[in-house]
Amino acid sequence: MCGIVGYVGKRQAAPLLLGALKKLEYRGYDSAGIALSGKTFAVKKCTGAVKNLRDAAFLEGTCGIGHTRWATHGAPSERNAHPHVCGRFAVVHNGIIENYKALRAECEARGERFASDTDSEVVAHLLEFYFRGDLIGALRQACARLMGSYALAVLCTEFPQTIALARSKSPLVVGVGGGVWCASDVPAIAAKNRTVYVLADGEFALLGEQATFFGREGNVISKQPLEYDAAGSIPARRGYRHFMRKEIDEIPAVLENRPHAVGLPTYAEVRRALAAAPHISVVACGTAYHAGLAAKYAFEALSRVRCEVTVASEYRYGDPIVEAGDLVIAVSQSGETADTIAAAQLAKERGAAVLAVVNVPGSTLAGIADFVLPVSAGREIAVAATKSFNAQLMLLYTLAATLAEAKGRRGYGDLLKDFPALARKTVSVGEGVRAWVAYFMSAASVYFIGRGADYVAALEGSLKLKEITYLPSEGYPAGELKHGTLALVEEGTPVVAVLTSEKLAEKTMNAVHEVYARGARVFLITSLEAYADAAELTGAVVIPPCGDVFSPMLSVIPLQLLAYYVALARGNDPDKPRNLAKSVTVE
Ligand code: AGP
Repeated sequence: MCGIVGYVGKRQAAPLLLGALKKLEYRGYDSAGIALSGKTFAVKKCTGAVKNLRDAAFLEGTCGIGHTRWATHGAPSERNAHPHVCGRFAVVHNGIIENYKALRAECEARGERFASDTDSEVVAHLLEFYFRGDLIGALRQACARLMGSYALAVLCTEFPQTIALARSKSPLVVGVGGGVWCASDVPAIAAKNRTVYVLADGEFALLGEQATFFGREGNVISKQPLEYDAAGSIPARRGYRHFMRKEIDEIPAVLENRPHAVGLPTYAEVRRALAAAPHISVVACGTAYHAGLAAKYAFEALSRVRCEVTVASEYRYGDPIVEAGDLVIAVSQSGETADTIAAAQLAKERGAAVLAVVNVPGSTLAGIADFVLPVSAGREIAVAATKSFNAQLMLLYTLAATLAEAKGRRGYGDLLKDFPALARKTVSVGEGVRAWVAYFMSAASVYFIGRGADYVAALEGSLKLKEITYLPSEGYPAGELKHGTLALVEEGTPVVAVLTSEKLAEKTMNAVHEVYARGARVFLITSLEAYADAAELTGAVVIPPCGDVFSPMLSVIPLQLLAYYVALARGNDPDKPRNLAKSVTVE
């Protein structure tokens, strides 16, 4: 993870770097730092978020690099904050240098001293070792020694108005206009009249008065600019206290974007690939994995086509049964999740066609996929995914309805048209969970239960809660509780049941009776009004009737709100939960 930036131009670099770094905080906020070029480097570092670096705004210099960190190797301390300096070089790094121990031992054997516990510092040492006056030459030699993933921005005191860049498996873009910039993503440096280029794996660049790009062999190459919407890539909170709450309110509008994907030429190609695929596989992580689980219910229920869903980090190191003709759907909000990208690459190597379902069309995952369908949720800032989940569901459910139609089962696509309006109503009634907050404040553990598609909503509700409230929580199939986990339920334990399936309602209510009998405080999210008055319930939110196959698109909304309000009450920042980052670009 981590975010890196660089600026070289005529203006004072420090405030510009700090501004861009703030936009990259979704990538980590364990520490931050900047270095400005000169005869020596002016360096400032801090622990925690970029705001702690405000003194650095007064550093002088028109060329510099910056970093916001999500710690992998070495504690989140000032000592381990980037940039790392060795001799004539200062370096910021995003990624993981897997062979850093061996490289560090080699440097230490030469008598070099290290100032941090990070894997990244070794890059500065290698640069100092290989440098013979040629900056790109030294960077190429250093990179040839690295295993793992990296996006690197490098300053060298011998070239005070230059930044050198290298990329392998971690994103890095260059912006030209109003100075020359680099960053881990486009929105950090997006501006009107600024041309953006995406550095590819194995490429290098030198930024000065202009940007010069180099291929693997050190040859100068020309690059096509990226088409992007500068205005659309910088969302504001617009009066909301937190992005997460704003993003929940955006769900109804986001669900209205469905026809956009269906109208794309790629959609027709995907429809053909889907209809021809003997079965479907989904790979994803976290919330996107839950979207895949929800899609499985829809694919199998509507078209009786088998769908397997695998956590990407398990898929990539397993020996998945995947072959030519299979369709593998890789779901990712960011399109930069290292495990999902690696799983998609493996599926491709084995002959499958890969469909990327992403919220960031220019992302790495989109770049390697055979087909790309955008979920069009708009930029999501809060680390906890909300609207992107609902948007992923809308797209995957649309695909399930399309496949069902190809199998002669029509009408499901029409049902989906009602969901934006239903979601609007659900956000409004979902506010009812605020009355439940006190019961969750200091719970030793919380359980979310459901059956079928409701179980998926329970899993996602549980992930949201633990992610931003830090309360231990589990999502469980309602029928499975009695096989062990019921032992953990005691007086006052909050249990949230999700119930939207008429067919399974009594079965889920059995679990409600069982936990209630052991002292649990039971809360219900249901589309079946008849169950909302059950005597066992401490609270109920009744969402609009919506059938059960697509119901997670609505039932998850009160659960997202519950997590948000409990996090607030516990004094947490819901947008920036501890230890996490929005984009998980390391494994
Ligand atoms: C969700 O709230 C989490 N932040 C996390 O589980 C996330 O969904 C996961 O890291 C996958 O990210 P992606 O969708 O960008 O691939």
